[in-house]
Amino acid sequence: MCLKFDHGDRTLHEENTTVLSQRRYVSAYGYEQAKALTFSNYGEPPSVLSLHSHSISPPHNDLMTLRFLASPINPADINQIQGVYPSKPNFTTSLGTADPIAVAGNEGVAEIIALGDKVKSEGFKKGDWVFMKGPGFGTWRTHASATIDQVVKLDDEMRQGISPIQAGTISINPCTAYRMLRDFTTLSEGEWFIQNGANSGVGRAAIQLGKKWGYKSINIIRGRDDKAAEDKLKKELKELGADVVITDTELQSQGIEDMSKEWTNGGREPIKLALNCVNGKAATAMAKLLSSSAHFVTYGAMSKQPLTIPASMLIFKNIHFHGFWVSRWAEKHPDEKKTTVADVLEMTRKGEFRDIPVDEIRWEWETKGEELIAKVKSTLEGYREGKGVFVFGKT
Ligand SMILES: NC(=O)c1ccc[n+]([C@@H]2O[C@H](COP(=O)([O-])OP(=O)(O)OC[C@H]3O[C@@H](n4cnc5c(N)ncnc54)[C@H](OP(=O)(O)O)[C@@H]3O)[C@@H](O)[C@H]2O)c1
Repeated sequence: MCLKFDHGDRTLHEENTTVLSQRRYVSAYGYEQAKALTFSNYGEPPSVLSLHSHSISPPHNDLMTLRFLASPINPADINQIQGVYPSKPNFTTSLGTADPIAVAGNEGVAEIIALGDKVKSEGFKKGDWVFMKGPGFGTWRTHASATIDQVVKLDDEMRQGISPIQAGTISINPCTAYRMLRDFTTLSEGEWFIQNGANSGVGRAAIQLGKKWGYKSINIIRGRDDKAAEDKLKKELKELGADVVITDTELQSQGIEDMSKEWTNGGREPIKLALNCVNGKAATAMAKLLSSSAHFVTYGAMSKQPLTIPASMLIFKNIHFHGFWVSRWAEKHPDEKKTTVADVLEMTRKGEFRDIPVDEIRWEWETKGEELIAKVKSTLEGYREGKGVFVFGKT
């Protein structure tokens, strides 16, 4: 039996969640009805994902029931479903299936709708917003049962003026950009960094953080067949604070080193840091623009090409090559993760950090699995205008 639930007693931030908090159906005895995009085998998302319904028993002790508000579709989520991401999801039969299944998605924000006594005694309350402490939780779902140690609470003051989409997309990409700009070398005001994938969530965050901290940036995007769309994208990134925006073709054209000298005051302003999420030839070309003893950080592999480094770059130019994975960093530095997120939220509140362009995918209780899976599929195709984000309505 399904009963309509009255949410008159809830302490939600009305301005952010009036639409999102409209209520779902709850079965008798307080069992939550939940739906999740799940997979039982690794593979291409359209072939392995399916929408699974299950119920969640009322929480007790250290358990809480979450209702998701917004969950993005990140490249890592796709890699995880394909089975090529180092962090594996939790395959379980606890969602009522005979064979183990895993819930897709790693990032998102959820509200607490019910909680056990131990959770209350740890300072959580109904209506609190939480995001996931690490990867592998499964965020492409309407509801979940979680323990205290799986979530990070967004304190009430941190949440003020923040929308679910902002909160649901802040814990991975902006943190990644923030730490890469800060933790590999010390950039002084007026010094340069260079990055590819500049229109990605991470890239846009790096442009804005860099601008705020006084760094200058050279930003590489993939060229578009449609020149007007390419110019529009370049303009958009400049409005975010990018100093230079070029395409990967322009980067690999003759005369780029002279142009780079022009941008950097005859080479007197060093390019001390490169951020690479693409690899392949364009990444090698990017490394060539770096100043001696600069740092080159690889954090993604969008082109699926290897990274090729000429030996001279290591021997004579003394470029330091690093990798960065925010999940590993967050596991080692949980407190810094919180302060990093708080910093970005503060910037967002002050209007210093603009939202990423988003393709909102409404997920209502009635939304069909095929529709959701088709949206996941479309995120696999590049040249998108915005990141796909599941935004939960009446669930
Ligand atoms: N290491 C970490 O801790 C960490 C954390 C967060 C993200 N990441 C990585 O950072 C990268 C960006 O993630 P995101 O969530 O910010 O991305 P996003 O907003 O979803 O955007 C995807 C980006 O990838 C580009 N792209 C897609 N296919 C490509 C291809 N074949 N060759 C070159 N570029 C391609 C897109 O460019 P177009 O517009 O031209 O298609 C766009 O800039 C991903 O590789 C992700 O795995 C790593």
